[in-house]
Amino acid sequence: MKNVFVTGAAGFIGFHLCLHLKKRNDFVIGLDNFNSYYDVKLKNERAKILKENNIEVIKADINDKKILEKIIEENNISHIVHLAAQAGVRYSFENPSTYVNSNLVGFVNLLEVLKKFKNVTKFIFASSSSVYGLNTKTPYSPADKTDNPTNLYGATKKANEAIAYAYHHLYKIPMIGLRYFTVYGPYGRPDMAYFKFTKNILDGKEIEIFNNGDMLRDFTYIDDIIDGTIKALDKINTFEIFNLGNNSPINLLDFISIIEKKLNKKALKKLLPFQKGEMQSTFADITTSKEKLDFQPTTKIETGMDKFIDWYISYEKALSK
Ligand SMILES: NC(=O)c1ccc[n+]([C@@H]2O[C@H](COP(=O)([O-])OP(=O)(O)OC[C@H]3O[C@@H](n4cnc5c(N)ncnc54)[C@H](O)[C@@H]3O)[C@@H](O)[C@H]2O)c1
Repeated sequence: MKNVFVTGAAGFIGFHLCLHLKKRNDFVIGLDNFNSYYDVKLKNERAKILKENNIEVIKADINDKKILEKIIEENNISHIVHLAAQAGVRYSFENPSTYVNSNLVGFVNLLEVLKKFKNVTKFIFASSSSVYGLNTKTPYSPADKTDNPTNLYGATKKANEAIAYAYHHLYKIPMIGLRYFTVYGPYGRPDMAYFKFTKNILDGKEIEIFNNGDMLRDFTYIDDIIDGTIKALDKINTFEIFNLGNNSPINLLDFISIIEKKLNKKALKKLLPFQKGEMQSTFADITTSKEKLDFQPTTKIETGMDKFIDWYISYEKALSK
């Protein structure tokens, strides 16, 4: 049994991770600042479900050292999964300082706290496919250089990997960075394209498609991501960076057809030029994740989107009551 502290627990991935850890009898405690980057109702709903499963989510910021110390000390924390971050690409053009505060200052703050606790034997943190930026060789491998991020979000994730390495080197704590690739599923993020597409098609509103749809995304289902994250928690006791992606990218227009088919409704497509800061494609090479973590995504995009859409419809129905 592990005593796991999950930051960003009211977020999409954190919520699912907490439930899975609890199910296998780990002790879990979460923290989240419940910021309003997207609808706080959804974060509250996730936290409510966690509470029903006897998982506490403390409302606090990762920049609050005292609270971090209290949580780690009082709960004899052995493992930390750090998911709290400012996510999203476009938002970084308008609000760069939130990325600096959460993803850089907050990240170092947490490392400064955990280095004092000998009981903490592993630190897992969320990185992103965004670190691959302008790379043109696909699939993207963790062995590739990541020197050309296309936006501040990707740059902060790249910085996290370097900062974590330095702390690992100095304090010998095993640290694993997981580069997640476009994670989707029930209780997912309203700011992401798959969520907006589903919502707008159902509401009869236009969907914005960048680069005229000529984009590839390696959509990865939440259960596969959680499986990989838990395997990283259980295996590997050194510093390592892994890709957690589906290894099966799909063209955006084909992806939209899957949603249209499931909803039995045509999308009103607004084709737009390439957006600065975006990546044309994402595609994970998962060879080392398979070898060392036994990571093997199994969810087909049709199956995963089916589950997402069923959840979305029931969630919207419950909200409108
Ligand atoms: N979902 C994806 O496709 C994806 C892809 C690549 C990487 N990631 C990374 O995975 C992690 C989790 O992503 P997610 O999709 O669950 O995002 P999310 O936004 O749903 O979850 C992040 C949570 O962290 C909280 N948070 C943000 N700043 C905080 C702070 N300073 N203090 C305390 N809490 C704070 C937010 O309130 C939110 O609930 C993030 O680090 C994200 O960058 C996600």
